[in-house]
Amino acid sequence: MKLLVLNGPNLNMLGVREPDIYGAQTYEALEKFIRAACAEVGAECEIYQSNHEGVLVDLIQSAYGVVDGIIINPAAYTHTSVAILDALKAVSIPAVEVHLSDVNAREEFRHISYPGMACVKTFAGYGFEGYRMAAQYLAEALGAKPEG
Ligand code: DQA
Repeated sequence: MKLLVLNGPNLNMLGVREPDIYGAQTYEALEKFIRAACAEVGAECEIYQSNHEGVLVDLIQSAYGVVDGIIINPAAYTHTSVAILDALKAVSIPAVEVHLSDVNAREEFRHISYPGMACVKTFAGYGFEGYRMAAQYLAEALGAKPEG
């Protein structure tokens, strides 16, 4: 099972940006966490972070026919990006949306998720743990067997 993990704008600033909301751990620590979570469910993963909507769209398109599942934290593009929604619909690869913070408990503009409309599941408000939940969810949905 191959998973593509996409992280959107400003997530590279983890550890520095609003630690009261996003925690004190760095983006590097998040990548390490995601690699471990994917390995736990026996999945290979490729992880990307981009501050650019078009780059995220290109990465989703290039996953077509290549990956089995997508884990995506579109960050601020969550609340604006019809382009990311359309890209996810175009490839129709099972996708799970993750947010570190509980977006529904924050400002009203964060309550809408365009990419989420093309996702089979959303985990929001669980910090890094949400990525593990997403990997587990996809592994179960795709019928993969854990290692060991
Ligand atoms: C976020 C929530 C978004 O509203 C915000 O713009 C982000 C991060 C999260 O992981 O909690 O950049 O996606």
